[in-house]
Amino acid sequence: MMQDSRSIVVLTGAGISAESGIATFRGPGGLWEGHRVEDVCTPEALAHDPELVHRFYDARRAALARVEPNAAHHALARLDAEWGGDLLIVTQNVDDLHERAGAKRLLHMHGELQSALCAACGAHMRWLGAMPPGSACPACGAAALRPDIVFFGEMPYAMDTIERALGTADLFVSIGTSGAVYPAAGFVQGARHAGARTLELNLERSAGSAFFHETRLGAAGSLVPHWVDAMLAG
Ligand code: OAD
Repeated sequence: MMQDSRSIVVLTGAGISAESGIATFRGPGGLWEGHRVEDVCTPEALAHDPELVHRFYDARRAALARVEPNAAHHALARLDAEWGGDLLIVTQNVDDLHERAGAKRLLHMHGELQSALCAACGAHMRWLGAMPPGSACPACGAAALRPDIVFFGEMPYAMDTIERALGTADLFVSIGTSGAVYPAAGFVQGARHAGARTLELNLERSAGSAFFHETRLGAAGSLVPHWVDAMLAG
């Protein structure tokens, strides 16, 4: 079955970066690096406490310098380099570990820590350092730069491209995501409805586990290289 899967869509979540030392969102206690997600990841939070939201993302951005891609990121990059069929890696993660491992056929549907978005003109730009509230946009001059993160209630990026890929996928693989946040949580149903085989690789069963044809439980750092080896062996 697997070797007939020419067109693959992979969805990744925080679990794939856990072994690199980046905290997942819904760990013990339900806090993300000490904060409730709604206090740092909503348009309302940005409007009411821009200092907190900017400081929070500045810290997440700075922390990228202290982490490295793990075996799961490297395995997906190898799949990207060697897989002759269609492949789209859709990540919900805002870290840069997939691209540092070498993945190219990659979309960040929830934005990127190392990107800024101008709330005034909509320009996106690479941003590596701290971003004090009121930073000026190099494109339009407005003091309106914000982290280029898709907050709750905002539309994820590249949904047209993702929906198209799900509609023609032979295989959909979900890695390290709890299935708690839509629309990503619904991708499995979309892909399955369109005829794809669906596989979940996760430490524990996700909220939508029942929608997958197959679930393999374990750490991404061992499950993903094993799966990629099998795919490339054909
Ligand atoms: P979660 O923190 O909700 O879920 C992470 C999943 O990874 C859980 O199911 C864990 O069991 C699993 N996991 C943990 N360690 C793992 C490991 N070593 N190997 C494999 N799996 C492991 O993170 P996401 O599902 O990514 O949105 O969260 C989705 C979105 O919610 C995020 O993109 C973020 C957040 O709000 C934005 O920031 C816009």
